[in-house]
Amino acid sequence: MKPKYEFANTVDWASQVLMPSFAEDWPLLPVERAEGAYLYTADGKRYLDFTSGIAVTNVGHGHPKVLAAAHAQMEKFSHSAVGITLHEPLLRLTQALTEVMPAGMDMFFFGNSGAEAVEGALKLARYVTGRPGIIAFEGSFHGRTYGAASVTSVKSKYRNHYEPFVPGVYFAPFPYPYRCPLGAEDGAVLRWSLDGIQKIFDRMIPPSQVAAILVEPVQGEGGYVIPPADFLPALRRICDEHGILLIMDEVQTGFGRTGEMFAAQVFNVRPDIMAIAKGIANGFPLSATVANHSLMQQWAAGAHGTTYGGNPIACAASLATLEVIREENLLANCRAMGIRLLEGMHQLKTRYDCIGDVRGLGLMLAMEMIVPGQDKTPDGQKAFAVLNQCLQRGLIGYMAGLQGQVVRLIPPLIVTRDQVEESLAIMDASLAACL
Ligand SMILES: Cc1ncc(COP(=O)(O)O)c(C=O)c1O
Repeated sequence: MKPKYEFANTVDWASQVLMPSFAEDWPLLPVERAEGAYLYTADGKRYLDFTSGIAVTNVGHGHPKVLAAAHAQMEKFSHSAVGITLHEPLLRLTQALTEVMPAGMDMFFFGNSGAEAVEGALKLARYVTGRPGIIAFEGSFHGRTYGAASVTSVKSKYRNHYEPFVPGVYFAPFPYPYRCPLGAEDGAVLRWSLDGIQKIFDRMIPPSQVAAILVEPVQGEGGYVIPPADFLPALRRICDEHGILLIMDEVQTGFGRTGEMFAAQVFNVRPDIMAIAKGIANGFPLSATVANHSLMQQWAAGAHGTTYGGNPIACAASLATLEVIREENLLANCRAMGIRLLEGMHQLKTRYDCIGDVRGLGLMLAMEMIVPGQDKTPDGQKAFAVLNQCLQRGLIGYMAGLQGQVVRLIPPLIVTRDQVEESLAIMDASLAACL
């Protein structure tokens, strides 16, 4: 007999009615309410949420200012297609975004999800260059729609059975310092990646036929992989030399996550096109493809569009989110708490030899688990065991990386020093329990 729906019975019910990507994910916590950095389940337990809904609720769950802005807009109207109408939340948001985006990013196409923002970026790049080729990176994740899945290569299960993909996509190695096959000496990891791009130019598609290089400034699903500081500047130079557009997918790295508003500002590199989403409206569905107006205005009317994109409630929430980030000085908090968490994680690494690498930028932090004594063999089971132990102790993190071997921590930017210390103590106890 089929189970009957009850909130306490979520896992059984979910396995009957939700497709396995939802029903077999982890930890399927039956959340009843959320506030700040905490989630509360139906049985009254409190969890420190170091996932932030996968880098979305950057200013914390239920921030009163964001809620008030969304509520006030809802009282006026909740939908009206952009184009048929215009509305103030969207127009004000374009101004507010322009003030915080990397220089020159001043024209917008609004969508609802990260994948849509990536689709827009790919279509724009091909449209304005008239070239077919796209270079993306191994280990990338850009979303689940066809265009976005075509440039994704973090796991074959995200691609299996979906061929043929959008043609014209080539993958170069992403500079992964911990796993560089050329060794650890200076410049090796950058050379590995740039040689890969050169090989694509020499053997597969000349640079004159490449529309764009698409990159996550820090790889997300790939394992919170931070490239060397000279990687993005090198991509900028290659793009300038060959008239190729540089697309930065800042869906996960955006809105303060890395300690600056965008990772492009951390690495001090100018993109031509950006895809932004997730933290943009603190949980309300909104995204944008952004470019310089000289590029964007070549996109003729009707060449791209949407029904829901730029929803007025989401735009109002986004405006409030931007204000909260500024008023509460959350970039500074992100940097300070990120430094402390990283330092604590480095201390843990000295005590637990199953931690192969610890890395982080702002509040985008990772612990890569390996089999001790072997040559950096990734240990997804250990990562999962540690995450489960953390969960039992009231801390939720998430996994990343090809084998799920990376424990990633994505705390909200409002996280406090006490919460950081609490999370480190929980990680310590959880690692000890997994010995
Ligand atoms: C870097 C990056 N790009 C794109 C996406 C896709 O975003 P969405 O799930 O909102 O479509 C994600 C989602 O995790 C992401 O991390």
